[in-house]
Amino acid sequence: MKQCVIQMFILSLSIIFTGCDSNKQKQTTRHMNTEIDKKVDSLLKLMTIEEKVGQMNQYNGFWDVTGPAPEGGSAEKKYEHLRNGWVGSMLTVRGAKEVRAVQKIAVEETRLGIPLIIGFDVIHGYKTLSPIPLAEAASWDLKAIEKSASVAAAEASASGINWTFGPMVDIGRDARWGRVMEGAGEDPFLGSLIAQARVKGFQGDDLSAVNTIAACAKHFAAYGFAEAGKEYNTVDIGTSTLHNIVLPPFKAAAEAGVRTFMNSFNELNGVPVTGSSYLQRDILKGEWGFNGFVVSDWASINEMISWGHAKDKREAAKIAAIAGSDMDMEGNVYVEELAQLVKDGVVEEAILDDAVGRILKVKFELGLFDDPYKYCDETREKEVIGSKKHREAVLDMAKKSIVLLKNKNNLLPLKKEGQKIALIGALASDKSSPLGSWRIASDDETAVSVLEGMQKYTGNSLNYVKGPDVALETTTFLHEVKLNTTDTSGLEEAINAAKSSDVVVMVLGEYGFQTGEGRSRTNLQLPGVQQELLEAVYKVNPNIVLVLNNGRPLAISWADEHIPAIVEAWQLGTETGNAVAEVLYGDYNPSGKLPMTFPRNVGQVPIYYNYKNTGRPVDKDDNVFWSHYVDVDKTPLYPFGHGLSYTSFEYSDLKLNASTFSVNDDVQVSVTVTNTGKVEGKEVVQLYIRDLVGSITRPVKELKAFEMITLQPGVSKTVNFVLNKEALGFYNNEGKYVIESGDFKVFLGGSSDTVLEADFTLE
Ligand code: BGC
Repeated sequence: MKQCVIQMFILSLSIIFTGCDSNKQKQTTRHMNTEIDKKVDSLLKLMTIEEKVGQMNQYNGFWDVTGPAPEGGSAEKKYEHLRNGWVGSMLTVRGAKEVRAVQKIAVEETRLGIPLIIGFDVIHGYKTLSPIPLAEAASWDLKAIEKSASVAAAEASASGINWTFGPMVDIGRDARWGRVMEGAGEDPFLGSLIAQARVKGFQGDDLSAVNTIAACAKHFAAYGFAEAGKEYNTVDIGTSTLHNIVLPPFKAAAEAGVRTFMNSFNELNGVPVTGSSYLQRDILKGEWGFNGFVVSDWASINEMISWGHAKDKREAAKIAAIAGSDMDMEGNVYVEELAQLVKDGVVEEAILDDAVGRILKVKFELGLFDDPYKYCDETREKEVIGSKKHREAVLDMAKKSIVLLKNKNNLLPLKKEGQKIALIGALASDKSSPLGSWRIASDDETAVSVLEGMQKYTGNSLNYVKGPDVALETTTFLHEVKLNTTDTSGLEEAINAAKSSDVVVMVLGEYGFQTGEGRSRTNLQLPGVQQELLEAVYKVNPNIVLVLNNGRPLAISWADEHIPAIVEAWQLGTETGNAVAEVLYGDYNPSGKLPMTFPRNVGQVPIYYNYKNTGRPVDKDDNVFWSHYVDVDKTPLYPFGHGLSYTSFEYSDLKLNASTFSVNDDVQVSVTVTNTGKVEGKEVVQLYIRDLVGSITRPVKELKAFEMITLQPGVSKTVNFVLNKEALGFYNNEGKYVIESGDFKVFLGGSSDTVLEADFTLE
């Protein structure tokens, strides 16, 4: 009823709002040209200062908590604020019925009846889980990744949710940081394309459709560069890294029309990013023209006090609002301080109008004003969530995410009959760990385990022995994971099973909540007693297929040296076991390629393929004075882009259409790829360049294009690429994109360790 009154007001009022043209506090103008903008501006005129601040206030639901609970955040207070119209959004409320209940309060009990936008961490699926995002990135399959996000959106939207806090587009170069599992890896080019695919998948072509949700590019910016990979730590990076490595995926997400951004817990060069006007006003809303809104990270406005950037909540609210943080997630800072700051003339009301205008705009775009209960249909919820179609989609994504790291003497695929197989490892029968971190809406114990997947192949004898546990306590995502570092019970049984088998499949790696937020590690080896288990089994039967379950690159040098076959199976979500079994038995030929470099040991981290050459890149005189470590090879264990297949590919005939180009010319590159093995296979053909001399030094390689091809045995294909000027330039230290003339190299191959190269010059 109230809703209709609001609609009438909105339509009948004319626009008087003049935008944000204040000289005093720097703002950025929202675009003011659509019907929605007119409605937004009409509504803004009806709102009190408190109601405006209310729209900028986001509360967590009453059960799940993904961060420390704020002081005084009781449910009673939240209900009261909700009724007063002092809450614009809630997060982590879920379920059609539950969301309807809170939405009803906002719509029917507040003065203006403005609907809530309901946010949730839909990170790799909702109830039916896809592989963790890092694993999906290993597919390099943009269509599949987009599809996976659309499945997640379909399930979440059926459960009352209309906004996801994803995709996380932070570049991850440091495997110690637990949140690398949430991103697309180390490369800004691949990361940008995946960011766009995910935004498209979540948002679809029509944000107002009932099965699409608003996406959120996070964490803006540079969270992935936390010093020493330690969670929530200082970030101190230069302009070149910021503009060339950190920002591109965010810019790509903005270009794909992402409707929201989330800022972050970290500081950047001394300024907490939540209070960074440079990032939020100048770059995001200014230069990039982003017209959606920015939500803080969980209480990150508040945390500027601990950082020593604001002396109290009042100052934190002032800094964040002026800097362009439009919504306060569970920090209680805006709701307590912002109205008074405006009344005292410290924060201009136009700042509120800008922020609230952005928030309302997205609510209008979602269609929440037309029907605030559109995502609260319990019948749809039952039909959509966990559907057969969704299970098939996540299985497809899971298979595409698997990377074959090593396959000596073609130990894989396994024969389908007549073999005695020992399956060893606690993770092999674990039905929760494969779900990975960030799975708030899914149920524990719902993954198909590797054991269950392999049991479907009945031609061999399969003897499962659990062996020692990985973790002593199976805890929820809120708590520390206690690793088993001493208890080797089950070891003898595992050894005996291995002795009497033809092949041993060992599933080892990380416990499900060992990566994710708050899970930084200083040790990247197989956790707990698993290395001991691996070595003990190897002594009695070296015919081992090691299947890794993990959320970050691991340092597995010993395994690489001794174990003939290694499969990177990450945490593949609901269909894990089926995907792994299909790959092990050869019903699916793996084609994944690593999105992050694997180090030889933790001391090499951060290690990434697009490093700088340094002044002393090689050992010229057999002395120590060159850029390296004296105790380990300079190269990584497995380079970025690496991944094998059950067939083999040969690259030949790299050609360029000329050797000299002007800046506006397209550089056309072609290469021939031949399937030289015995089975059909997919290959990700990768093109890298090197700009040999730059006013800002350039990396030794930069990925600039790739294409996935499928080839029958014996068949060749010519793959064509076009490099335009966007591919050949870089951001200088003023943050300006420049293209400099000079000599370039182009490299082609099936990993960043490329096999062919050619030269060209840009005049
Ligand atoms: C995380 C965000 C997440 C938010 C809400 C924070 O702790 O950093 O990525 O979206 O919680 O759950």
